[in-house]
Amino acid sequence: MMAWFVEARDPYTGGHLWRVSRYARLLGEEIGLPAADVARVSLGGFLHDLGKIGIPDAVLRKSSALDESEYNVIRTHPDLGWRMLSGHPLADLVKEAVYSHHERPDGKGYPRGLRAGEIHLDARIVGVCDAFDAMTSSRPYRAGMSRGQALAIIQSQSGSQFDAELARQFIELGRRGLLDHVMGHSDDGIPLQECPVCGPTLVIKRGQQPGQHIYCRNCGGEFALESADDTAKLVARPTGRVGSSQQLLPDADHELIRKVVVETASNITIALTMLGDGQMLDRQA
Ligand SMILES: [Fe+2]
Repeated sequence: MMAWFVEARDPYTGGHLWRVSRYARLLGEEIGLPAADVARVSLGGFLHDLGKIGIPDAVLRKSSALDESEYNVIRTHPDLGWRMLSGHPLADLVKEAVYSHHERPDGKGYPRGLRAGEIHLDARIVGVCDAFDAMTSSRPYRAGMSRGQALAIIQSQSGSQFDAELARQFIELGRRGLLDHVMGHSDDGIPLQECPVCGPTLVIKRGQQPGQHIYCRNCGGEFALESADDTAKLVARPTGRVGSSQQLLPDADHELIRKVVVETASNITIALTMLGDGQMLDRQA
């Protein structure tokens, strides 16, 4: 639920948290992590940008280049996310993904400027996945890159911005087409739909039916869901209307959140250990 506050806050990033979580799971499995570690890094991917809820709109939603002082504001989000989470009894599970996902092996990352060997694996995994999703996602002011372009950039920054071995394995996953079912999607089997004004920004929730309306969170345009001719999938057709302020309220996708929690909770045994720890229980109290 806390992760979803970020989706509610920033309409440009529909499905970003889910995709980063999915990519992190795929990369974790690819490098042979045990199931508990895969679950933890996938949860970290879901929560990594939590601190963005504290970034002012003027910076978070600015469509042109940020100046140095604005960039300094953006750079506070890992620290802010960790401060907000740190009182939670299970916060340590996602600490590294939240606090260190913008650290870089060459020491030019933030907030601490850690170097290669000092950056936790979870943060290095989420760092690659987050960057790939940012590059391949469309924003109102620019179209997303192709898979090949984004992978080429990861290759070119391997060892400097990205962990070299993780970059190699992620590129390999991409070349084998194993990221394609996540790219441009907001849930398993549910591709983002295209707003003619803003690009692929329309999120359909599982269980939505033909005839229901959805709205572009960027321009407010209304779309009616229809069954596609050749598949069971839904497509969004513009109605020409703009949603009311009530209709444009963000909504949490409770079913997707529940799915993410169930997938991870069933594999994370450390949670029980932590809850049994006297110190953690004190903090909880
Ligand atoms: Fe971030």
